[in-house]
Amino acid sequence: MAKKDLEDKDLKPDTLLSHLGRDPARFGGAVNTPVFRCSTVLTEGMERFEAGRERRFEKNEFVYGRLGTPTTFSLEEALAGIEGGHGTVLTSSGLAAIACALLAFAEAGGHILVTDSAYEPTRRFCDGLLARLGVETEYYDPLIGAGIAGRLRPETRAVFCESPGSLTFEVQDLPAIAAAAKAKRVPVLIDNTWATPLFLKPFDLGLDVSIQAATKYVVGHSDAMLGSITAAEEALYWQIRKTVYALGNAAGPDDAYLGLRGLRTLSVRLQRHQENGLKLARWFETRPEVRQVLHPALPGCPGHELWRRDFSGASGLFSIVLAEDYPRAALAAMVDGLELFGIGASWGGYESLVIPGHPEHTRTATEWQAPGALLRFHIGLEDPDDLIADLEAGFARLSARAAAE
Ligand SMILES: Cc1ncc(COP(=O)(O)O)c(C=O)c1O
Repeated sequence: MAKKDLEDKDLKPDTLLSHLGRDPARFGGAVNTPVFRCSTVLTEGMERFEAGRERRFEKNEFVYGRLGTPTTFSLEEALAGIEGGHGTVLTSSGLAAIACALLAFAEAGGHILVTDSAYEPTRRFCDGLLARLGVETEYYDPLIGAGIAGRLRPETRAVFCESPGSLTFEVQDLPAIAAAAKAKRVPVLIDNTWATPLFLKPFDLGLDVSIQAATKYVVGHSDAMLGSITAAEEALYWQIRKTVYALGNAAGPDDAYLGLRGLRTLSVRLQRHQENGLKLARWFETRPEVRQVLHPALPGCPGHELWRRDFSGASGLFSIVLAEDYPRAALAAMVDGLELFGIGASWGGYESLVIPGHPEHTRTATEWQAPGALLRFHIGLEDPDDLIADLEAGFARLSARAAAE
């Protein structure tokens, strides 16, 4: 079925996940769009080569590998449909998507507002490269809500959200932020990796740009790097597409294929991540070693009410704060001895992960105060009871080692 027919039918997200972004008739009946490994695309005749390139780029035609191939266009079409936006641009990683999207709007002498809960490399990009180019970044309290109006200046070029923050999980009042920014014609961008477009629809809440580190849940198997930027409207889409083009950024063909393959099962995987994550989060709440569980679907998480209002689900990533300042050796005994949790910075794959986090080192607009260490967990697709047993043994090591110190 053509994309237009699919959209006209008002199909449900699970159906769209199976059908968007593929056209077997174009590829000899193959169910999936094949991997196009390609730099040069030959043109018929000099006339067409000289006259057509720019115009064909603007129509998203297949003119050169870096500018898009049938594989990348397929994934872009599918993601745009799932997000409900005008169009999607793929990038080589999630961080590249964030950097390209911000560069599409930032300009020398301009000012951008970025949530204090943002992923650390996003901050590094703002404080480093953007600052060097004369762009001022002001961090704001993720719980600022409508108060963002007081931070918007005539030279503000973008507001950047990450909700929930992927380390500390504050949920932002996105409609309030979007309304304040819209009144000043400032675009609002969101790193929507945690929820994916299945659990949060940023455009329905008035935001303008939705970014995915597709490396995480879209790919879903920890085997590719990929980013996507989706714009609600055509003008913003082209502003972004031309920026990605100018920067020479492009998603690799195999990674784009893996993104397409992952997308087909995104919904079923997310449901299981949600169930397993909630079971683990509720179990952590019962543990005396844990002071707070930062899971947006639980009332103890800042902004939980906003999650209930705006989101339709929760993925498998959350943090806990320990009840006391355990000695480092005790913490290491707990974490290093876990058998089913890898220590790894990414997430969104089928496997469970844990890392220590240090928001106290990065915050500037707000202060991070907690009695004990923060541990961030990604809950994978394993049996949750096995994960709980592994963690139970971990807490026993933590207490035993702390008592011996
Ligand atoms: C919230 C968030 N955004 C963006 C990124 C960057 O994605 P990538 O690793 O694909 O560059 C990450 C990676 O961990 C992330 O956690």
